[in-house]
Amino acid sequence: MADNLILDVQDIKKSYDGLEVLKGIGFGLQKGETKVLIGPSGSGKSTLLRCINYLTVPDAGRIYLNGEEVLDKNIDAMRSRMGFVFQDFNLFTHLTVLDNVRICQIKVGGTDKQTATQRAHSELERVGLGDKAHAYPAELSGGQQQRVSIARALAMDPDVLLFDEPTSALDPELTGEVVRVMQQLAAEGMTMVVVTHEMSFARQAADEIIFMENGHIVEQGAPNILFNSASNERTQTFLNVIAEHG
Ligand SMILES: Nc1ncnc2c1ncn2[C@@H]1O[C@H](COP(=O)(O)OP(=O)(O)O)[C@@H](O)[C@H]1O
Ligand SMILES: [Mg+2]
Repeated sequence: MADNLILDVQDIKKSYDGLEVLKGIGFGLQKGETKVLIGPSGSGKSTLLRCINYLTVPDAGRIYLNGEEVLDKNIDAMRSRMGFVFQDFNLFTHLTVLDNVRICQIKVGGTDKQTATQRAHSELERVGLGDKAHAYPAELSGGQQQRVSIARALAMDPDVLLFDEPTSALDPELTGEVVRVMQQLAAEGMTMVVVTHEMSFARQAADEIIFMENGHIVEQGAPNILFNSASNERTQTFLNVIAEHG
């Protein structure tokens, strides 16, 4: 294992009822890198992200975060260092925005309330929602809710942020505000794995794009190389479909 990797994912396998949906996936992420994971629906992208923080337990393979292996016995501590941003936001609807952003800091991180509150306000400012601390999720647009969920992840000071199609539940006019926050984070040197079909984000922010299909990595490379001359026919076909419809 290269010791400068923040996240080192090795040979992950996962089956459901005899169907192998991850067939040995590996990749590494250096500090400050953004990798974008693309591929057709059902190719295993969500399963892979969920295996990385053990929301789904892999059948085989190893995951290292900052050189330390992610295991059952340390999963709570390891998970608190990996922020997860879901497609459907996963906010607590009965809590205010402020409480959503500080509750994990207090309950999981053991941070005192005053420090957690300050951190919550500064992360809300960072995603452009400094004036929404006392609103409830239902009072916000989908784009604003997703930005709250990003602020909540950032407030835990994660080593890596994992995004699973963060804009695919949003109306097109709300996608941009979330993509801009993600671009800003990438530019600031956050370490991120992003599953997305937003190719503008991939082109602009990704250090590397990984194309998955049927539980395999088919091809990976820098965006300008992959977009201009994907060597694999499947990758090329997928990119063409996305370009037409995405
Ligand atoms: N909890 C589950 N139980 C059974 N099958 C699952 C489960 N989660 C995912 N799958 C199957 O695994 C495959 C990969 O799914 P997924 O990781 O969601 O793909 P993607 O995110 O690329 O669309 C699909 O065939 C899906 O039906
Ligand atoms: Mg998915």
